[in-house]
Amino acid sequence: MPITQELVEKKYSFYHKKINDALDRCFDRESPVTLYAPARYILEGKGKRIRPFLTLLASEAVCGSSEEALNVALAVEILHNFTLIHDDIMDQAELRHGRLTVHRKWNINAAILAGDMMIAYAYDLALQAKSNRHAELVHILNHANITICEGQALDMELEEKQDVTIADYLDMIAKKTGRLISAALEAGGVAGDATKEQLQSLVLFGEKIGRAFQIQDDYLDIMAEDGKSGKMAGGDIINGKKTWLLLRSLELTAGADHDLLRSIVINKGIGAERVPEVKDLFEKCGVLEETAALINKNTEEALFALESLPHAEGKEYLKGFAHILMQRDF
Ligand code: IPE
Ligand code: IPE
Ligand code: MG
Ligand code: MG
Ligand code: MG
Repeated sequence: MPITQELVEKKYSFYHKKINDALDRCFDRESPVTLYAPARYILEGKGKRIRPFLTLLASEAVCGSSEEALNVALAVEILHNFTLIHDDIMDQAELRHGRLTVHRKWNINAAILAGDMMIAYAYDLALQAKSNRHAELVHILNHANITICEGQALDMELEEKQDVTIADYLDMIAKKTGRLISAALEAGGVAGDATKEQLQSLVLFGEKIGRAFQIQDDYLDIMAEDGKSGKMAGGDIINGKKTWLLLRSLELTAGADHDLLRSIVINKGIGAERVPEVKDLFEKCGVLEETAALINKNTEEALFALESLPHAEGKEYLKGFAHILMQRDF
């Protein structure tokens, strides 16, 4: 049976609910309330559950079951949400999923602690997975966790630097975002008892869609329809983040337009009132077309990586979901 986009959507919403139901049962302790309530709060937001869905699909694509991979999927999602809580502190973000960020609703200390506790909780879930490959699972999560920290450190270093290249940016996003996406797939593969070669395919697929995903995230940060991203529109520009849009449009512009963009780099950001001007400039200079082409290219390359996977239908679901991600608008 051909796997249509409709079938992929259906599976996504089925697993989305399953993941949410299981997450609802986590962090059910009442005390200390300033520890567990923030963890429940971030997980009850409108997370897309992309990474745990990929974990379940990866397990199926190597002929394993999604049931065996569920605890691993939850571990990945909880780890991801810990990174979001700490990322919002670092980015001084006020909003996530259209609600106050954890450190704004509580305070920075509560946000740090909830994140710390969630890491340990995630590892415990991974150890509860039905698998005889726990050491591998823990290693994958550890490697992803360390790599995210590297990526986030680079993200902050790039904020301070004036001579950032596109290569610097691509390296940074591979670490802060790409690795957790590839790890979600790799860990799902291990839960489904994949071979080494199959894991390599899943990781390569994850790296490519991870790159497309962060470029899309940067695009949506400023271009998403009003309120749809659930984050403050233009937050990256305000903070002077060296995104693909900013770096590439610096290359595409001259004169006053270029000077405006350059001022974001020199001043390490720009006032919120000037975001619409920057948005107009992105629309004018051709960077948006290039961004769409780059997201397409990375997604297409990702699909090639999957050819060697054993389960034909599972493979088609992964491909179909890569297409859905490419078209996302929030
Ligand atoms: C946000 O990830 C952080 C990035 C790596 C860009 P998502 O966009 O997947 O966030 P949720 O899980 O849906 O909230
Ligand atoms: C995401 O980068 C990186 C991690 C959460 C590790 P962003 O800072 O762009 O993520 P959002 O846009 O706040 O979700
Ligand atoms: Mg952020
Ligand atoms: Mg960030
Ligand atoms: Mg972002």
